[in-house]
Amino acid sequence: MEEVRFRLARLSDFDEVMNLSRGIYKGRDYLPLEFHRWMKTEDFTVMVAAVGEKLVGLTAGFIADDGKTCIRRAARVLPEYRGRGVNKKLSQVLNEYVQLNFPSVIRVRFVTRYNDFSKNTLAKLTTIHHFEVLSYDIGEEAPYAKEKSQEISTIRIARCTKEYISDIIFSNLVGQQLVSNSVLIYDRLPFELCSSNFKKLLQEFENLEFYSEKCCANSFPKSFSFGCVTPRVDYIHLTTYIYTSDISFYQAHLLHRFKHACEAIEDRLIFVSPAQSELLTSHGRMLMEDKLKLKKSDNLQEIKLYIFELDLPQQDS
Ligand SMILES: CC(C)(COP(=O)(O)OP(=O)(O)OC[C@H]1O[C@@H](n2cnc3c(N)ncnc32)[C@H](O)[C@@H]1OP(=O)(O)O)[C@@H](O)C(=O)NCCC(=O)NCCS
Repeated sequence: MEEVRFRLARLSDFDEVMNLSRGIYKGRDYLPLEFHRWMKTEDFTVMVAAVGEKLVGLTAGFIADDGKTCIRRAARVLPEYRGRGVNKKLSQVLNEYVQLNFPSVIRVRFVTRYNDFSKNTLAKLTTIHHFEVLSYDIGEEAPYAKEKSQEISTIRIARCTKEYISDIIFSNLVGQQLVSNSVLIYDRLPFELCSSNFKKLLQEFENLEFYSEKCCANSFPKSFSFGCVTPRVDYIHLTTYIYTSDISFYQAHLLHRFKHACEAIEDRLIFVSPAQSELLTSHGRMLMEDKLKLKKSDNLQEIKLYIFELDLPQQDS
């Protein structure tokens, strides 16, 4: 096998990065859109594997959780180089680079649907949490579901400001009661609840909208949700993450976001909502499938997402 070398990515690698992206996510990979921004962001590291001038792999990570965590994302290896340990080595090299250059980092976290690690790898990983993902393709059945959704009465949900979410959820014990293990995910990025992460979340997803149940000025919310619309090539994707342990609040958010989506979007819509527990997922299914008669999306299969954590060995000072 030709020698594979590992190094930091360069801006001039862009054409090769496009090549690594070919065919990923049915041709809709986000990596080419993000590459330049990542390269210019101080706490982002993009590591590549190269054979001569050709890139054969890439992985990236950024620092979050007040400097404690490297969040890893975007593993890519050319199909003809897969299964030879390239990704494994890339991850190791990235970890070593992060440890050297960001000494406050004590762990790596990542979110994946993959759950087939070797025993050896699994022994080093901790599963922090897993999410079940509901996803519905809203097409011809929309008029029926829309009409039905108007007949179901639920708790009132209202949009809230970013400042409210930052102050109440990210900087307060209230958030910790609503979010399992205090790790909130959006789009496969696991963020701990701390105010510096709220800024990072908005940096990554500037169009996010936040919602909570209507509650009096002097009481704390028992639920919140957030998400945004992402245009794709031939449909629109609306994701909503709902955080609560209460079934009625959960269903109220789900229904509110569904109604909002139907009003705002006329094109083909895929509605995606990961939930924190199997109990909530089953109630979500009852609402969306039994009552509204929505069909599961076959574009995005119903999946489970896992948040994994790997401790980095601490170096002697
Ligand atoms: C996933 C992918 C990067 C793996 O690359 P690879 O070089 O073939 O992987 P390796 O030969 O190093 O061996 C697999 C190792 O990678 C890890 N791995 C494999 N697939 C993974 C996935 N989807 N997510 C996270 N880790 C994964 C495992 O740790 C595994 O090691 P283990 O068997 O000891 O547990 C490659 O198959 C690929 O580019 N797939 C398409 C893009 C993709 O699905 N990326 C992941 C989601 S962002």
